[in-house]
Amino acid sequence: MKVLREISEVREARKQCRSTLGLVPTMGALHEGHLSLIRNSVAKCGETIVSIFVNPTQFGPNEDYEKYPRTVEEDLKKCEAAGADYVFLPTNEVIYGTEKPLVTLNVDKELTSVLCGKSRPIHFNGVAQIVSILFNIAQPDIAFFGEKDYQQLTVIRKMVSDLHFPLEIVGVPTVREASGLAKSSRNRYLSESELAVAPNIYKVMNIIKEKAEAYRKENKTVSVESLENEAKKMISELVPGSKIDYFEIRSTKDLGRNEDLSDDSRIFTAVYVGTTRLIDNLYIGK
Ligand code: PAJ
Repeated sequence: MKVLREISEVREARKQCRSTLGLVPTMGALHEGHLSLIRNSVAKCGETIVSIFVNPTQFGPNEDYEKYPRTVEEDLKKCEAAGADYVFLPTNEVIYGTEKPLVTLNVDKELTSVLCGKSRPIHFNGVAQIVSILFNIAQPDIAFFGEKDYQQLTVIRKMVSDLHFPLEIVGVPTVREASGLAKSSRNRYLSESELAVAPNIYKVMNIIKEKAEAYRKENKTVSVESLENEAKKMISELVPGSKIDYFEIRSTKDLGRNEDLSDDSRIFTAVYVGTTRLIDNLYIGK
């Protein structure tokens, strides 16, 4: 496995690649979720490049950019064990240069003023910016993203379609702890007592999913809002010290809102456990 630090090195690797190239963009502090993306790429593509870059433009002023975990040495070992051919490890200067950019991307409010976009107003513009820069540098045939960040996956799919990026996006299912808690680089911020109660978020999501599916089976209509309120009450009780940012049921396809359960619904939630913001989502199905 080769570590690449300059754009010219990535371009050279792309030029030498005689088969399909898979790209796995990450911000490091790698865990089994990231490794599942890498393994999917290795299985599907001739060569795989993982990027590790904590992208400053997707963090708000009061967010955790400075304290975001950076564990490069361990990350490199994990990438190699998962079968990556290259790791791209750029600095801020390599990606953004030293001058303020003239051209940036603006993602439409319809998709980004809801769910995570509501409390993180600049986040998806920053994600679109870095992901498009990485696509332009590596020019992959396929890029892999986790369903864990479902709104991000939706924004990226639409961006690729809108801007005609010549590549395929593959979404990879969420990898979880045995407790059900979705793996996340931010889980390492959780104290022992927080870690003990955080899996209850996924338990509540499953209870709501089962209820929704039962209503649907019996052909009963149910208001989405009543299910959401029930879930919020359960989370407040089962996750002491938590603050719910949102718990919403929306369309899987376009994240739109329906008053009743649509055919293709998905539960989306973000909950602060102590000061750590955890997100998750779960498909309700047809
Ligand atoms: P990061 O949070 O490091 O995640 C990198 C990729 O791993 C994303 O596609 C994310 O959805 C996926 N991922 C994270 N946890 C996962 C889990 N438990 N199961 C499956 N996949 C998981 O997302 C970002 O970085 C950044 O926004 C990035 C796309 C790299 C742009 O900076």
